[in-house]
Amino acid sequence: MKSYQIDPNFLWGVATSANQVEGGWNEDGKGMSIADCLRYRPQLDVTNYKAANSISSKQVKEAMSDLSTKNWAKRHGVDFYHNYHEDIKQLAAMGISAFRFSISWARIFPNGDDQEPNQAGLDYYLDLVKEMNKYNIEPIMTLSHYEIPLNLVLNYDAWYDRRVIDFFDKFAKTVIDYLHDYVKYWIPINEIDSIIRHPFSSAGLIEDRFPNKNFKNVIYQAMHNQFVASARIIKYCHETYPDLKIGCMITSTMVYPYNSDPRNVLRATEIMRNVYAFSDIQIRGKYPKYLLKKLKEEDIKIEEEADDTDLIKENTADFIAFSYYSSVCTAYDTTGLQVTKANRINGVYNKYLPESEWGWQIDPIGLRLSLIKLYDRYQKPLFIVENGLGASDVLTSDKKIHDDYRICYLRDHIQQMLISLVEDGIDLIGYCVWGTTDMISASSNQISKRYGLIYVDLDDEGNGTYKRYRKDSYYWYKKLLSFGNKIP
Ligand code: BG6
Repeated sequence: MKSYQIDPNFLWGVATSANQVEGGWNEDGKGMSIADCLRYRPQLDVTNYKAANSISSKQVKEAMSDLSTKNWAKRHGVDFYHNYHEDIKQLAAMGISAFRFSISWARIFPNGDDQEPNQAGLDYYLDLVKEMNKYNIEPIMTLSHYEIPLNLVLNYDAWYDRRVIDFFDKFAKTVIDYLHDYVKYWIPINEIDSIIRHPFSSAGLIEDRFPNKNFKNVIYQAMHNQFVASARIIKYCHETYPDLKIGCMITSTMVYPYNSDPRNVLRATEIMRNVYAFSDIQIRGKYPKYLLKKLKEEDIKIEEEADDTDLIKENTADFIAFSYYSSVCTAYDTTGLQVTKANRINGVYNKYLPESEWGWQIDPIGLRLSLIKLYDRYQKPLFIVENGLGASDVLTSDKKIHDDYRICYLRDHIQQMLISLVEDGIDLIGYCVWGTTDMISASSNQISKRYGLIYVDLDDEGNGTYKRYRKDSYYWYKKLLSFGNKIP
């Protein structure tokens, strides 16, 4: 066993999001959010992410009139809402020092535009973070992880509408004021670049609500509004609570050239740049020239207010959080090449890599490359806030889950991370396994794509006991954490 010298304060954690685990979708004053409108569709090709995630106004109305939870997997989640004491206790027993999770906006402001917050929602999260603190676990709080109150979608056009910045501002400040004593690390918006790939589930944008507009322009306007909203939160925290650390967050899917043909190398660089644009803006404080040029070429006009530029410039993030699951290849001409998928990014199949059951190619070195590229670009602290494997685990008759494939995935990725920490001179705050218990998949709305270290007895239609069982990977991660710097 090789040991690695790492900072004893390095955060080892797990991660999840409210809409994927909580359930309790209409309890204690919570309003309906976009996640409650995403139906599990068994006949759907779950790797067809566009079909799985785009939604029409008609479908949203249908969702609103069906108050059941069957097939609306995110409405019941894994009932973390009622089980959090037990879940946190079990996760704490692994020896974690960090727990990343998100807060449901609609649990605090049920309609998004309410005058007063829902006290029951605030108290719920207060108890949650106190519970984490009780076990010396550092909470890492995401304010918006694929959620927005439905009322803001139907009556304000979601993030496209400038007024939503004010509603988010009020929500965020309410929560930060309430929880700042317990939570040091904050991430305003999960995978802020995802708005381009899945504008509804990321930002509540429904294409048919904009019949006379170029929908791409709508998406970029909403993106800009999210940057303004994030900068406002950063400003507020830096001025009011200087001890807090506020990160930006991007999806780091490594994109490689299919081969060494320079045209393919160039294509891969362009695709990566499209994601880096999001961290460039939040770390360097301005729109990079290459993005401005792209917007101009595509005739996209973003409406800005006078102080947006200064606000974004003067209020940059303290660290770069990112998710990493896999890599893809690309080519300037993909005709005839075998395609693959990774975290809702289409690419060309990489013959050097194995793939998961869901066709995501497994590439631990891609994690090390992400660390190097992001650190070289910004020289700012990094934080791996998501890394894990979705697989269809089997509960044996003696209630065990032998997920050696997940152990293998985690071991290889963590090893690359530790090598990078020791060899590459990067600055890394921590690492969180995605996820905690099993949870509902963000893209396919199914639980059978399982990510947890703890199994939940539940199927895709919502049948099951909700009982929890520790997987082999749970015991493996526990062992790793007890060693601290050696990989079992
Ligand atoms: C990340 C999201 O992009 O990917 C998570 O932030 C999500 O919410 C994770 O669960 C894995 O994706 P999926 O679609 O397999 O759940």
